[in-house]
Amino acid sequence: MATAELAGKHLVLGMTGGIACYKIAELTRLLTKAGATVQVVMTEAATQFITPVTMQALSGRPVYTSQWDARVPNNMAHIDLSREADAIVIAPASTDFLAKLAHGMADDLLSTLCVARDCPLLVVPAMNRQMWQNPATQRNVTQLRADGIEVLGPDSGPQACGETGDGRMLEAVATFEAIASFFSPKILSGRRVLLTAGPTFEPLDPVRGITNRSSGKMGFALARAAQQAGAEVHLVAGPVALETPWGVFREDVQTAQQMHDAVMRSVADADIFIGVAAVADWRVDHASEQKIKKTAERALPTFTFVENPDILASVAKLPHPPFTVGFAAESGDLELHGEEKRVRKNVPLLIGNLGPLTFGMDDNEVILFEAAGATKLPRADKQTLARALIVEIARRLPDTSLIR
Ligand code: C5P
Repeated sequence: MATAELAGKHLVLGMTGGIACYKIAELTRLLTKAGATVQVVMTEAATQFITPVTMQALSGRPVYTSQWDARVPNNMAHIDLSREADAIVIAPASTDFLAKLAHGMADDLLSTLCVARDCPLLVVPAMNRQMWQNPATQRNVTQLRADGIEVLGPDSGPQACGETGDGRMLEAVATFEAIASFFSPKILSGRRVLLTAGPTFEPLDPVRGITNRSSGKMGFALARAAQQAGAEVHLVAGPVALETPWGVFREDVQTAQQMHDAVMRSVADADIFIGVAAVADWRVDHASEQKIKKTAERALPTFTFVENPDILASVAKLPHPPFTVGFAAESGDLELHGEEKRVRKNVPLLIGNLGPLTFGMDDNEVILFEAAGATKLPRADKQTLARALIVEIARRLPDTSLIR
């Protein structure tokens, strides 16, 4: 999970009345674990859903609920609390609170804090679908966006009231990701990134197949880092057990051929292509349509293999390819063969995993191969490494005017 963007940040976390208050306990833990300090401020209504004691224990700071709190020496909690903050996050943000914000009302501590702030304001709406769809709410949200307030979510799905639709609060992890994303430098703003990640699965018959040990972690970490850097991200994923990073468009595929076709359908729109997937080099020619039976009299099955398309090479061969980045996982001699592979694949940048195969692990160490030479990056967890790689990729884009 990203930590760098939030380390040392001071957030005022404003809670308003809604059942989604329970998600803020988890959100507070995620934020503090990432190195942020969290000052919780609750409206009267929020305290009906979760107690200030709980929020104090999780944030490690006294919770403020009243404009008239004598703990602030100058009795100006609304000024003091907002002046220290890098951002105010209202989560959950109720229908009523959005309406108050849209009209600049200031009749309790939290609303007064928001009006008196000199820092960014992020709101995370949480309400019943009818309340969200109500034209007044939609007018208010449009007004908030026009006022430069970030609106995160809402999500869609089953609601506490038993109905289903738009309006439920983003989950704690997604809210955390969205806040981290808000603080990331937007070095890929306006860029479209297409990635492949994970293994592929090549069927032998309807129940069996050939795959590999790629977990997809590196590709998903890169997709997340690119999204946080402001890019529009399309992730073509093989079969993996990973959550889609917040704000990323994900397309699931099984086979190398499907992955190839998905990439080729979308590559014309991409500014950057990153092939992280461990694509199977071969597939079985004519996989059996029926399950292959194991019977006493039947001989062991034999399979004929045919080569899969090389997705990376196909992209690199296009007349106007995006900035194309390959990955190489080798069980040895990478330093010798990396540059040779980059030239063979015809890509400007190839990222090689150093050392033993890192499938499924959280840490990685890589070496960048390019025409100018090879550069090692320090060993780090995959998310930190992904952020560093996005910076390296952004630096090498043909038009760097946006990022200098
Ligand atoms: O040739 P090798 O598999 O080592 O190359 C690895 C790089 O090529 C990775 O970027 C991988 O995503 C890409 N690749 C591909 N299609 C294949 C095989 C590899 O895009 N069929």
